[in-house]
Amino acid sequence: MTLRIQTPRVFVPLLQDGMRYKGAWGGRGSGKSWFFASYIIERCIAEPGLRVVCVREVQKTLRESAKRLLEDTIKAMDVGSLFEVMADCIKTPGGGIIIFQGMQDHTAESIKSLEGFRVCYWEEAQTASDRSIELLRPTMRSGSELLFAWNPRNANDPVDKLLRGPDLPSRSVVVKANWSDNPFFPKELEEERQFDMKTNRDRYSHIWEGAYEPAAIGAIFDRVTIGQNRREAAPELDRVVVGIDPAVSSESGSDMHGVVVAGRCTAGHGYVIHDGSLRGSPRQWAERAVALYDAYEADAIVIEVNQGGDMCRHTLQSVRPGLRVVEVRATRGKHVRAEPIAALYSLGRVHHVGTFPELEDQLCLFTASGYEGSGSPDRADALVWAMTELFPGMVRKAADPTPQRVDYGSGGWMG
Ligand SMILES: Nc1ncnc2c1ncn2[C@@H]1O[C@H](COP(=O)(O)OP(=O)(O)OP(=O)(O)O)[C@@H](O)[C@H]1O
Ligand SMILES: [Mg+2]
Repeated sequence: MTLRIQTPRVFVPLLQDGMRYKGAWGGRGSGKSWFFASYIIERCIAEPGLRVVCVREVQKTLRESAKRLLEDTIKAMDVGSLFEVMADCIKTPGGGIIIFQGMQDHTAESIKSLEGFRVCYWEEAQTASDRSIELLRPTMRSGSELLFAWNPRNANDPVDKLLRGPDLPSRSVVVKANWSDNPFFPKELEEERQFDMKTNRDRYSHIWEGAYEPAAIGAIFDRVTIGQNRREAAPELDRVVVGIDPAVSSESGSDMHGVVVAGRCTAGHGYVIHDGSLRGSPRQWAERAVALYDAYEADAIVIEVNQGGDMCRHTLQSVRPGLRVVEVRATRGKHVRAEPIAALYSLGRVHHVGTFPELEDQLCLFTASGYEGSGSPDRADALVWAMTELFPGMVRKAADPTPQRVDYGSGGWMG
Protein backbone atom coordinates (compact mmCIF):
# COMPACT_ATOMS: atom_id res chain seq x y z
CA MET A 1 0.00 0.00 0.00
CA THR A 2 1.19 3.51 -0.78
CA LEU A 3 0.19 6.49 1.31
CA ARG A 4 0.39 9.96 -0.11
CA ILE A 5 0.94 12.51 2.62
CA GLN A 6 1.37 16.17 1.90
CA THR A 7 3.94 17.60 4.26
CA PRO A 8 4.43 21.37 4.36
CA ARG A 9 8.06 22.06 3.46
CA VAL A 10 8.86 23.55 6.85
CA PHE A 11 8.35 20.18 8.57
CA VAL A 12 10.45 18.07 6.18
CA PRO A 13 13.56 18.16 8.46
CA LEU A 14 11.45 16.40 11.10
CA LEU A 15 11.06 13.35 8.87
CA GLN A 16 14.71 12.31 9.17
CA ASP A 17 15.62 9.07 10.92
CA GLY A 18 17.86 8.63 13.92
CA MET A 19 16.73 11.71 15.85
CA ARG A 20 15.61 11.50 19.46
CA TYR A 21 14.10 14.97 19.92
CA LYS A 22 11.87 16.55 17.30
CA GLY A 23 10.29 19.92 17.98
CA ALA A 24 8.09 22.38 16.13
CA TRP A 25 7.29 25.76 17.62
CA GLY A 26 5.49 28.78 16.30
CA GLY A 27 2.24 30.70 16.17
CA ARG A 28 -1.35 29.58 15.71
CA GLY A 29 -2.42 27.64 12.68
CA SER A 30 1.01 26.74 11.41
CA GLY A 31 0.10 23.10 10.90
CA LYS A 32 2.14 21.72 13.82
CA SER A 33 -0.59 19.52 15.20
CA TRP A 34 -1.60 18.24 11.80
CA PHE A 35 1.98 17.45 10.87
CA PHE A 36 2.65 15.43 14.02
CA ALA A 37 -0.70 13.66 13.78
CA SER A 38 -0.07 12.46 10.25
CA TYR A 39 3.51 11.55 11.16
CA ILE A 40 2.28 9.40 14.06
CA ILE A 41 -0.37 7.67 11.95
CA GLU A 42 2.15 7.01 9.21
CA ARG A 43 4.61 5.47 11.67
CA CYS A 44 1.91 3.28 13.20
CA ILE A 45 1.22 1.86 9.75
CA ALA A 46 4.88 1.44 8.85
CA GLU A 47 5.84 -0.19 12.16
CA PRO A 48 3.21 -2.70 13.29
CA GLY A 49 2.93 -2.98 17.05
CA LEU A 50 4.26 0.56 17.66
CA ARG A 51 3.23 2.07 20.98
CA VAL A 52 2.65 5.81 21.14
CA VAL A 53 1.80 8.01 24.09
CA CYS A 54 0.37 11.50 23.65
CA VAL A 55 0.91 13.64 26.72
CA ARG A 56 0.07 17.06 28.00
CA GLU A 57 1.10 18.63 31.26
CA VAL A 58 -2.46 18.47 32.55
CA GLN A 59 -5.17 16.37 30.97
CA LYS A 60 -8.35 16.48 32.96
CA THR A 61 -10.46 14.83 30.26
CA LEU A 62 -9.79 13.01 26.99
CA ARG A 63 -11.41 15.89 25.18
CA GLU A 64 -8.32 17.94 25.99
CA SER A 65 -6.08 15.33 24.39
CA ALA A 66 -4.87 14.80 20.83
CA LYS A 67 -7.27 11.85 20.44
CA ARG A 68 -9.82 13.70 18.34
CA LEU A 69 -7.11 15.11 16.10
CA LEU A 70 -5.70 11.62 15.50
CA GLU A 71 -9.16 10.26 14.74
CA ASP A 72 -9.68 13.03 12.19
CA THR A 73 -6.28 12.34 10.69
CA ILE A 74 -7.07 8.62 10.35
CA LYS A 75 -10.24 9.57 8.47
CA ALA A 76 -8.54 12.16 6.31
CA MET A 77 -5.83 9.64 5.35
CA ASP A 78 -8.53 7.05 4.62
CA VAL A 79 -6.87 4.36 6.73
CA GLY A 80 -9.78 3.76 9.12
CA SER A 81 -9.79 0.03 8.38
CA LEU A 82 -6.34 -0.35 9.98
CA PHE A 83 -7.19 1.35 13.29
CA GLU A 84 -9.72 0.70 16.01
CA VAL A 85 -10.84 3.74 17.94
CA MET A 86 -11.72 2.84 21.53
CA ALA A 87 -13.18 5.07 24.24
CA ASP A 88 -9.82 5.99 25.76
CA CYS A 89 -7.20 4.80 23.26
CA ILE A 90 -6.63 3.92 19.63
CA LYS A 91 -5.57 0.40 18.63
CA THR A 92 -3.01 0.48 15.85
CA PRO A 93 -1.91 -2.16 13.31
CA GLY A 94 -0.08 -5.24 14.64
CA GLY A 95 -1.28 -4.94 18.23
CA GLY A 96 0.06 -1.46 18.86
CA ILE A 97 -1.67 1.30 20.75
CA ILE A 98 -1.91 5.08 21.12
CA ILE A 99 -2.75 6.33 24.62
CA PHE A 100 -3.37 9.79 26.09
CA GLN A 101 -2.11 10.96 29.46
CA GLY A 102 -1.53 13.99 31.67
CA MET A 103 2.01 14.20 33.03
CA GLN A 104 0.81 15.67 36.31
CA ASP A 105 -1.02 12.44 37.02
CA HIS A 106 2.29 10.57 36.93
CA THR A 107 4.70 9.76 39.74
CA ALA A 108 8.25 8.44 39.49
CA GLU A 109 6.73 4.96 39.89
CA SER A 110 3.79 5.21 37.54
CA ILE A 111 5.85 6.72 34.71
CA LYS A 112 7.59 3.33 34.35
CA SER A 113 4.43 2.03 32.69
CA LEU A 114 5.52 4.03 29.64
CA GLU A 115 8.86 2.28 29.27
CA GLY A 116 7.85 0.20 26.23
CA PHE A 117 6.60 3.22 24.32
CA ARG A 118 8.66 4.28 21.33
CA VAL A 119 7.02 7.58 20.46
CA CYS A 120 5.91 10.31 22.83
CA TYR A 121 4.07 13.32 21.45
CA TRP A 122 3.83 16.31 23.75
CA GLU A 123 1.16 18.79 22.70
CA GLU A 124 0.97 22.38 23.93
CA ALA A 125 4.40 21.74 25.40
CA GLN A 126 4.79 25.37 26.48
CA THR A 127 3.05 24.39 29.70
CA ALA A 128 5.39 21.47 30.39
CA SER A 129 7.01 21.66 33.81
CA ASP A 130 10.65 20.83 34.56
CA ARG A 131 9.53 17.97 36.74
CA SER A 132 7.44 16.38 34.00
CA ILE A 133 10.17 16.69 31.39
CA GLU A 134 12.68 15.20 33.83
CA LEU A 135 10.31 12.35 34.55
CA LEU A 136 9.74 11.58 30.90
CA ARG A 137 13.22 11.79 29.40
CA PRO A 138 14.82 8.74 31.01
CA THR A 139 11.59 6.79 30.59
CA MET A 140 11.73 6.93 26.82
CA ARG A 141 14.45 4.37 26.10
CA SER A 142 16.68 3.51 23.16
CA GLY A 143 15.26 4.15 19.74
CA SER A 144 12.45 6.30 21.12
CA GLU A 145 11.38 9.62 19.75
CA LEU A 146 10.14 12.59 21.76
CA LEU A 147 8.01 14.96 19.72
CA PHE A 148 7.15 18.43 21.00
CA ALA A 149 4.77 21.02 19.53
CA TRP A 150 4.36 24.38 21.21
CA ASN A 151 3.43 28.02 20.99
CA PRO A 152 6.19 29.74 22.98
CA ARG A 153 5.37 31.95 25.94
CA ASN A 154 8.63 32.64 27.69
CA ALA A 155 12.32 31.89 27.09
CA ASN A 156 12.48 30.35 30.56
CA ASP A 157 9.77 27.81 29.99
CA PRO A 158 11.24 24.31 30.33
CA VAL A 159 10.59 23.26 26.73
CA ASP A 160 12.27 26.44 25.45
CA LYS A 161 15.26 25.82 27.68
CA LEU A 162 15.44 22.23 26.41
CA LEU A 163 14.93 22.76 22.69
CA ARG A 164 15.81 26.39 22.02
CA GLY A 165 18.64 26.88 24.49
CA PRO A 166 22.33 27.16 23.60
CA ASP A 167 22.94 23.45 24.26
CA LEU A 168 20.51 21.25 22.44
CA PRO A 169 20.36 17.60 23.50
CA SER A 170 22.22 15.41 21.01
CA ARG A 171 20.18 14.16 18.07
CA SER A 172 17.63 16.97 18.10
CA VAL A 173 15.95 18.70 15.23
CA VAL A 174 13.75 21.70 15.85
CA VAL A 175 11.85 23.83 13.34
CA LYS A 176 10.01 27.11 13.59
CA ALA A 177 6.66 27.12 11.79
CA ASN A 178 4.20 29.96 11.32
CA TRP A 179 0.91 30.43 9.51
CA SER A 180 2.75 31.54 6.39
CA ASP A 181 4.45 28.13 6.27
CA ASN A 182 1.11 26.32 6.20
CA PRO A 183 -0.14 25.92 2.62
CA PHE A 184 -3.45 24.70 4.08
CA PHE A 185 -3.96 27.73 6.34
CA PRO A 186 -7.77 27.92 6.48
CA LYS A 187 -9.89 30.95 5.62
CA GLU A 188 -11.42 31.22 9.12
CA LEU A 189 -8.00 31.47 10.72
CA GLU A 190 -6.93 34.05 8.16
CA GLU A 191 -9.90 36.15 9.24
CA GLU A 192 -8.91 35.76 12.87
CA ARG A 193 -5.36 36.74 12.05
CA GLN A 194 -6.46 39.86 10.18
CA PHE A 195 -8.70 40.80 13.07
CA ASP A 196 -5.88 40.44 15.60
CA MET A 197 -3.57 42.43 13.37
CA LYS A 198 -6.01 45.33 13.56
CA THR A 199 -7.23 45.11 17.14
CA ASN A 200 -4.62 43.27 19.14
CA ARG A 201 -1.28 44.57 17.98
CA ASP A 202 0.42 44.03 21.33
CA ARG A 203 -0.15 40.34 21.27
CA TYR A 204 -0.22 39.74 17.52
CA SER A 205 3.35 38.55 17.18
CA HIS A 206 2.98 36.25 20.17
CA ILE A 207 -0.24 34.68 18.90
CA TRP A 208 0.61 34.43 15.21
CA GLU A 209 4.37 34.65 14.79
CA GLY A 210 5.67 32.51 17.61
CA ALA A 211 7.17 35.44 19.59
CA TYR A 212 7.36 35.20 23.35
CA GLU A 213 4.58 36.79 25.40
CA PRO A 214 4.98 40.53 25.46
CA ALA A 215 6.23 41.46 28.91
CA ALA A 216 4.69 44.58 30.35
CA ILE A 217 7.46 47.02 31.25
CA GLY A 218 7.54 47.39 35.00
CA ALA A 219 5.34 44.33 35.53
CA ILE A 220 4.91 43.52 39.20
CA PHE A 221 4.41 39.77 38.73
CA ASP A 222 6.69 37.70 36.55
CA ARG A 223 6.43 34.31 34.91
CA VAL A 224 9.78 33.06 36.11
CA THR A 225 8.82 33.50 39.74
CA ILE A 226 5.41 31.96 39.19
CA GLY A 227 7.03 29.04 37.36
CA GLN A 228 9.75 28.47 39.96
CA ASN A 229 7.26 28.33 42.80
CA ARG A 230 4.73 26.17 41.04
CA ARG A 231 3.67 23.04 42.92
CA GLU A 232 1.99 19.79 41.93
CA ALA A 233 -0.14 19.68 45.06
CA ALA A 234 -0.96 21.83 48.05
CA PRO A 235 0.01 20.82 51.60
CA GLU A 236 -2.62 20.80 54.32
CA LEU A 237 -4.26 24.22 54.36
CA ASP A 238 -5.38 26.11 57.46
CA ARG A 239 -7.70 28.42 55.60
CA VAL A 240 -9.25 28.31 52.18
CA VAL A 241 -11.30 31.07 50.60
CA VAL A 242 -13.08 31.59 47.30
CA GLY A 243 -12.46 35.06 45.85
CA ILE A 244 -15.06 36.54 43.49
CA ASP A 245 -14.83 39.58 41.26
CA PRO A 246 -18.25 39.74 39.63
CA ALA A 247 -18.58 41.47 36.25
CA VAL A 248 -20.94 44.40 36.00
CA SER A 249 -22.97 43.09 33.13
CA SER A 250 -23.84 39.49 32.40
CA GLU A 251 -24.65 39.89 28.73
CA SER A 252 -22.79 37.51 26.48
CA GLY A 253 -19.46 38.83 25.32
CA SER A 254 -19.10 40.94 28.42
CA ASP A 255 -16.38 40.52 31.01
CA MET A 256 -15.78 37.36 32.94
CA HIS A 257 -16.66 36.87 36.56
CA GLY A 258 -13.41 36.07 38.33
CA VAL A 259 -13.75 33.10 40.69
CA VAL A 260 -10.51 31.87 42.23
CA VAL A 261 -9.85 29.49 45.14
CA ALA A 262 -6.77 30.05 47.32
CA GLY A 263 -5.54 28.78 50.65
CA ARG A 264 -2.90 29.34 53.28
CA CYS A 265 -0.81 26.76 55.14
CA THR A 266 0.61 26.92 58.68
CA ALA A 267 4.01 27.93 57.34
CA GLY A 268 2.43 31.10 55.97
CA HIS A 269 2.56 30.26 52.29
CA GLY A 270 -0.33 30.93 49.93
CA TYR A 271 -1.59 28.43 47.35
CA VAL A 272 -3.69 29.21 44.31
CA ILE A 273 -5.70 26.05 43.83
CA HIS A 274 -8.45 26.66 41.30
CA ASP A 275 -9.47 29.19 38.69
CA GLY A 276 -13.17 28.73 38.08
CA SER A 277 -13.80 32.09 36.35
CA LEU A 278 -16.73 32.14 33.94
CA ARG A 279 -19.07 34.23 31.82
CA GLY A 280 -22.75 34.07 32.68
CA SER A 281 -25.51 35.29 34.92
CA PRO A 282 -25.12 36.23 38.59
CA ARG A 283 -26.84 32.98 39.45
CA GLN A 284 -24.13 31.12 37.52
CA TRP A 285 -21.18 32.74 39.28
CA ALA A 286 -22.89 32.19 42.63
CA GLU A 287 -23.43 28.51 41.87
CA ARG A 288 -19.86 28.10 40.70
CA ALA A 289 -18.52 29.81 43.82
CA VAL A 290 -20.65 27.71 46.17
CA ALA A 291 -19.67 24.49 44.35
CA LEU A 292 -16.00 25.41 44.80
CA TYR A 293 -16.63 26.42 48.41
CA ASP A 294 -17.94 22.89 49.01
CA ALA A 295 -15.36 21.09 46.90
CA TYR A 296 -12.42 22.74 48.68
CA GLU A 297 -14.14 22.93 52.08
CA ALA A 298 -13.55 26.66 52.07
CA ASP A 299 -13.95 28.85 55.13
CA ALA A 300 -15.40 31.87 53.39
CA ILE A 301 -16.33 33.54 50.16
CA VAL A 302 -14.69 36.92 49.59
CA ILE A 303 -16.55 39.11 47.17
CA GLU A 304 -16.07 42.57 45.77
CA VAL A 305 -19.38 44.40 46.08
CA ASN A 306 -18.65 47.76 44.50
CA GLN A 307 -21.31 47.13 41.93
CA GLY A 308 -24.35 46.17 43.94
CA GLY A 309 -23.72 44.68 47.34
CA ASP A 310 -27.35 43.76 47.88
CA MET A 311 -27.58 41.93 44.61
CA CYS A 312 -24.40 39.94 45.39
CA ARG A 313 -25.61 39.04 48.85
CA HIS A 314 -29.05 37.99 47.62
CA THR A 315 -27.62 35.92 44.84
CA LEU A 316 -25.31 34.02 47.16
CA GLN A 317 -28.07 33.70 49.74
CA SER A 318 -30.43 32.19 47.21
CA VAL A 319 -27.91 29.49 46.33
CA ARG A 320 -26.82 28.68 49.87
CA PRO A 321 -28.28 30.38 52.94
CA GLY A 322 -25.90 30.70 55.88
CA LEU A 323 -22.73 30.82 53.83
CA ARG A 324 -19.84 32.77 55.37
CA VAL A 325 -19.30 35.77 53.12
CA VAL A 326 -16.78 38.57 53.42
CA GLU A 327 -17.75 41.65 51.42
CA VAL A 328 -14.96 43.89 50.29
CA ARG A 329 -15.11 47.27 48.65
CA ALA A 330 -12.38 48.54 46.38
CA THR A 331 -11.16 51.92 47.47
CA ARG A 332 -7.96 51.97 45.45
CA GLY A 333 -6.88 51.02 41.95
CA LYS A 334 -6.55 47.36 41.04
CA HIS A 335 -2.79 47.51 40.65
CA VAL A 336 -2.40 49.15 44.07
CA ARG A 337 -4.31 46.28 45.65
CA ALA A 338 -2.22 43.82 43.69
CA GLU A 339 1.14 45.19 44.85
CA PRO A 340 1.32 43.61 48.32
CA ILE A 341 0.28 40.31 46.77
CA ALA A 342 3.02 40.69 44.16
CA ALA A 343 5.44 41.22 47.05
CA LEU A 344 4.37 37.88 48.53
CA TYR A 345 5.04 36.25 45.16
CA SER A 346 8.50 37.74 44.94
CA LEU A 347 9.29 36.33 48.39
CA GLY A 348 8.47 32.89 46.99
CA ARG A 349 5.52 32.62 49.33
CA VAL A 350 2.76 32.04 46.77
CA HIS A 351 2.48 28.81 44.83
CA HIS A 352 0.26 27.94 41.92
CA VAL A 353 -0.92 24.37 42.19
CA GLY A 354 -0.86 23.40 38.51
CA THR A 355 -0.95 25.96 35.71
CA PHE A 356 -3.52 28.72 35.21
CA PRO A 357 -2.57 30.22 31.83
CA GLU A 358 -5.24 32.93 31.60
CA LEU A 359 -4.88 34.00 35.22
CA GLU A 360 -1.08 34.09 34.88
CA ASP A 361 -1.35 36.18 31.71
CA GLN A 362 -3.42 38.72 33.59
CA LEU A 363 -1.06 38.84 36.57
CA CYS A 364 1.94 39.49 34.35
CA LEU A 365 0.25 42.50 32.76
CA PHE A 366 -0.09 44.36 36.06
CA THR A 367 2.44 47.15 36.30
CA ALA A 368 3.12 49.73 38.96
CA SER A 369 1.11 52.22 36.93
CA GLY A 370 -1.90 50.09 36.03
CA TYR A 371 -3.20 47.05 34.19
CA GLU A 372 -1.84 46.90 30.66
CA GLY A 373 -3.96 44.10 29.27
CA SER A 374 -7.12 44.59 27.30
CA GLY A 375 -10.43 44.23 29.13
CA SER A 376 -10.66 43.72 32.83
CA PRO A 377 -8.32 41.48 34.86
CA ASP A 378 -11.19 39.63 36.54
CA ARG A 379 -9.28 36.47 37.36
CA ALA A 380 -6.35 38.36 38.81
CA ASP A 381 -8.72 40.53 40.81
CA ALA A 382 -10.50 37.55 42.31
CA LEU A 383 -7.09 36.15 43.24
CA VAL A 384 -6.03 39.43 44.83
CA TRP A 385 -9.20 39.51 46.95
CA ALA A 386 -8.69 35.94 48.09
CA MET A 387 -5.03 36.54 48.99
CA THR A 388 -5.84 39.81 50.73
CA GLU A 389 -8.22 37.93 52.97
CA LEU A 390 -5.64 35.21 53.64
CA PHE A 391 -2.79 37.64 54.37
CA PRO A 392 -4.44 40.62 56.09
CA GLY A 393 -1.32 41.74 58.01
CA MET A 394 0.77 41.87 54.90
CA VAL A 395 -1.71 43.96 53.04
CA ARG A 396 -2.47 46.43 55.78
CA LYS A 397 1.18 47.05 56.45
CA ALA A 398 1.95 47.63 52.82
CA ALA A 399 -0.84 49.78 51.53
CA ASP A 400 -4.10 49.94 53.35
CA PRO A 401 -4.89 52.72 55.79
CA THR A 402 -8.66 52.14 55.75
CA PRO A 403 -9.61 48.59 54.95
CA GLN A 404 -13.29 48.53 54.08
CA ARG A 405 -14.48 45.16 54.95
CA VAL A 406 -17.87 43.87 56.01
CA ASP A 407 -18.03 40.38 57.35
CA TYR A 408 -21.38 38.71 57.44
CA GLY A 409 -21.19 35.14 58.63
CA SER A 410 -23.31 32.18 59.57
CA GLY A 411 -24.70 34.09 62.54
CA GLY A 412 -26.74 37.09 61.71
CA TRP A 413 -26.60 37.91 58.07
CA MET A 414 -29.90 36.34 57.09
CA GLY A 415 -31.89 38.46 59.42
N1 LIG B 1 -1.67 18.53 5.94
C1 LIG B 1 -2.78 19.26 5.99
N2 LIG B 1 -3.82 19.02 5.18
C2 LIG B 1 -4.94 19.77 5.23
N3 LIG B 1 -5.13 20.79 6.09
C3 LIG B 1 -4.15 21.09 6.94
C4 LIG B 1 -2.93 20.34 6.94
N4 LIG B 1 -2.13 20.87 7.88
C5 LIG B 1 -2.81 21.90 8.45
N5 LIG B 1 -4.03 22.03 7.88
C6 LIG B 1 -5.03 23.07 8.20
O1 LIG B 1 -4.40 24.09 8.94
C7 LIG B 1 -5.06 24.29 10.19
C8 LIG B 1 -4.05 24.64 11.27
O2 LIG B 1 -3.22 23.53 11.49
P1 LIG B 1 -2.88 23.01 12.95
O3 LIG B 1 -4.09 22.94 13.77
O4 LIG B 1 -2.08 21.80 12.79
O5 LIG B 1 -1.97 24.23 13.44
P2 LIG B 1 -1.18 24.38 14.82
O6 LIG B 1 0.14 24.94 14.44
O7 LIG B 1 -1.22 23.15 15.59
O8 LIG B 1 -2.02 25.55 15.47
P3 LIG B 1 -2.35 25.85 17.02
O9 LIG B 1 -1.18 26.61 17.50
O10 LIG B 1 -3.57 26.70 16.89
O11 LIG B 1 -2.57 24.55 17.70
C9 LIG B 1 -5.82 23.01 10.44
O12 LIG B 1 -6.98 23.25 11.21
C10 LIG B 1 -6.17 22.55 9.05
O13 LIG B 1 -7.35 23.19 8.62
MG1 LIG C 1 -2.00 22.71 17.58
